[in-house]
Amino acid sequence: MENILSQEKVIVIDFGGQYNQLVARRVRECNVYCEIYSYKTDLEQIKAMNPKGIILTGGPNSCYEEGAPTYRKELFEMGVPVLGLCYGAQLMNHILGGKVEKAPVREYGKTETFIDGGKNSLFAGVNEKTIVWMSHFDYISKPAPGFEVLAHTADCPVAADANEEKKLYAIQFHPEVLHTQEGSKMLYNFVRGICGCSGTWRMDSFVENTVKEIREKVGDGKVLLALSGGVDSSVAAGLLSRAIGKQLTCVFVDHGLLRKDEGDEVEGVFGPNGQFDLNFIRVNAQERYYGKLAGVSEPEAKRKIIGEEFIRVFEEEAKKIGAVDFLAQGTIYPDVVESGLGGESAVIKSHHNVGGLPDFVDFKEIIEPLRNLFKDEVRKAGLELGIPEKLVFRQPFPGPGLGIRIIGEVTGEKVKIVQDADFIYREEVDKAAAEYKKENGVEAPWVPNQYFAALTNMRSVGVMGDERTYDYAVALRAVKTIDFMTAEAAEIPFAVLQTVMSRIINEVRGVNRVFYDLTSKPPGTIEME
Ligand code: XMP
Repeated sequence: MENILSQEKVIVIDFGGQYNQLVARRVRECNVYCEIYSYKTDLEQIKAMNPKGIILTGGPNSCYEEGAPTYRKELFEMGVPVLGLCYGAQLMNHILGGKVEKAPVREYGKTETFIDGGKNSLFAGVNEKTIVWMSHFDYISKPAPGFEVLAHTADCPVAADANEEKKLYAIQFHPEVLHTQEGSKMLYNFVRGICGCSGTWRMDSFVENTVKEIREKVGDGKVLLALSGGVDSSVAAGLLSRAIGKQLTCVFVDHGLLRKDEGDEVEGVFGPNGQFDLNFIRVNAQERYYGKLAGVSEPEAKRKIIGEEFIRVFEEEAKKIGAVDFLAQGTIYPDVVESGLGGESAVIKSHHNVGGLPDFVDFKEIIEPLRNLFKDEVRKAGLELGIPEKLVFRQPFPGPGLGIRIIGEVTGEKVKIVQDADFIYREEVDKAAAEYKKENGVEAPWVPNQYFAALTNMRSVGVMGDERTYDYAVALRAVKTIDFMTAEAAEIPFAVLQTVMSRIINEVRGVNRVFYDLTSKPPGTIEME
């Protein structure tokens, strides 16, 4: 059994394009492990990793311009198969003596592409006419010597070319994007066919190998983990528990800003009556948080208080436990890449849940068992470990929790209102989605990627029975999004919204109006604050 270091791997060299993490994910879907490195990474370092194949990504530059990202020519002389995508395709042809120029017309969007030249290993099994996703200004006007054109479009004479003998392939379009109908097949052909990877990257072996690695690393040491109940920290807890049992202590801080019953659910899974062997400490810090938040209505001030209070509570618990050998964190691969350590496209994350924790705990080393995994892989590992589906497929939930779904001042009373309204909303949406699926055999098109109720700070007059009311308005939010950077309001059927509205008004005291938030992001954000 291989571990990650000896695992056969493909290296993705990042030239700053927007789909680069997607390239890596698609490769992993072929059961081939891959890692992303910046184009600034030294060739010797790449060689030392002994890759089975190399993929050059897209990027925003023109490769013929002075100072544009480039790479040493020797990369193409290592005898390792190389696949260039978009900018990577142009760069490969440019470096090897072909010609890249500004195209007479920009090609953008779904484009019909013709596979030329009959059989070649990159397009094996791909239809002669296929739809691909194009996005480029420059084009390859003359293939590099020794290269043969493999595909063209109406506007692009070289949609793909290759030097098959040297196993060098260039694709002008983006096979990693789902709009490229047979893109997965092309990437599969490259990594499994041309590179000859055997496809050993599977989550069951990941779990097994990582458990072994953790045991070796930790020995009889003690490990401390801040467990939030989110997917990443839960899966980290499951893995560590399987590896080292009671040497692991998980501290779960219930800040009173969780969704309804969530604290008990986390305790049910990881607590003493749960299925995992570990020390579980639940800190019920609700009142403490409400005390600190009293009178505070400015969103950033609330975020700051919630974050700082978490550190204080955790620090106190850590002091009780005493020195530990390792502090475990649920860092995952996108966190690594986005913090600029992995690839080139450094989008620094602004949402940090556990800011500054390491400074407050007496430990020797950090352990991050999920740092090589994408989110969908973390979920698969979670299922392997027997973590309940409800937890594994949880929708994203912000670190400051309901604190940023209550506009204005947070109080215990408001938390209770928003918890109850949110519970009803999720229950009805889930029920309607399940019914749709049962009737139609497919998921409803409106099923949101994130949905929750929030409490507006607005009170208004209403009438209930014969009485005048002066109560709060609840806002329902539901968005369709892929990356959570942009989003659209989901088209939840009106009948479902009506049911939710009447249940909330009838069942949740203190609410007399329900709004549906139609705002997309931008200009709105997904959360309310
Ligand atoms: P926004 O509101 O910025 O949210 O459109 C985008 C995604 O990030 C989540 N989010 C947070 N997550 N701490 C987090 O861990 C935060 O402070 C935070 N604020 C927003 C939000 O739920 C959505 O998925």
